[in-house]
Amino acid sequence: MIALLRKLFAREEPALCEAGSRDAAAIAALHARSFHRGWSEEEVEMLLLDRSVVAHRATAASALAGFIMSRMAADEAEILSVAVDTAFRGRGLARNMLHLHLRRLAGLGARAIFLEVDENNAAALRLYARAGFAEVSRRPNYYAESGGKTATAVVLRRDLP
Ligand SMILES: CC(C)(COP(=O)(O)OP(=O)(O)OC[C@H]1O[C@@H](n2cnc3c(N)ncnc32)[C@H](O)[C@@H]1OP(=O)(O)O)[C@@H](O)C(=O)NCCC(=O)NCCS
Repeated sequence: MIALLRKLFAREEPALCEAGSRDAAAIAALHARSFHRGWSEEEVEMLLLDRSVVAHRATAASALAGFIMSRMAADEAEILSVAVDTAFRGRGLARNMLHLHLRRLAGLGARAIFLEVDENNAAALRLYARAGFAEVSRRPNYYAESGGKTATAVVLRRDLP
């Protein structure tokens, strides 16, 4: 039954729109499935209620297929997180969400966008390179991984016109 529902879910074309605090539970669940250290629903709700935070979601068959979230500070923004449900990966959804998100950040006055990404995260590095982000620095031992290992964070930047 769950497999059938996931199949139907994956067939829908996701619709993109701004996310709000009512999306906190679904975003926290997708974040937990996507990252080593998840965010609690309360943490996500606090972010979504923060006026400096901008978030978009992709929804298919009334379920969350993806989200992207940034925090603005003066004329800069930091992308805090982006994730796509496994059923929708590799179909350009993150690219579409990122483009919409960058347009919104530009409209709010952001002129430079930053983010950190694990140097081993090939999909995210490709997503951001294709969207015009470039490496500005590296932070060794930034991410804690399983088995006591660590990974380097690559800091990326893109300027907006
Ligand atoms: C990173 C992530 C958001 C990408 O989502 P997605 O919807 O599958 O990405 P898209 O389909 O828009 O693909 C974007 C680019 O990445 C490439 N890509 C996608 N998956 C890839 C993979 N596993 N390995 C290498 N490149 C990959 C695509 O080919 C595309 O590049 P192209 O335009 O040159 O073809 C998704 O894999 C995810 O949620 N990962 C877990 C959470 C995460 O790591 N978030 C990023 C933290 S910074």
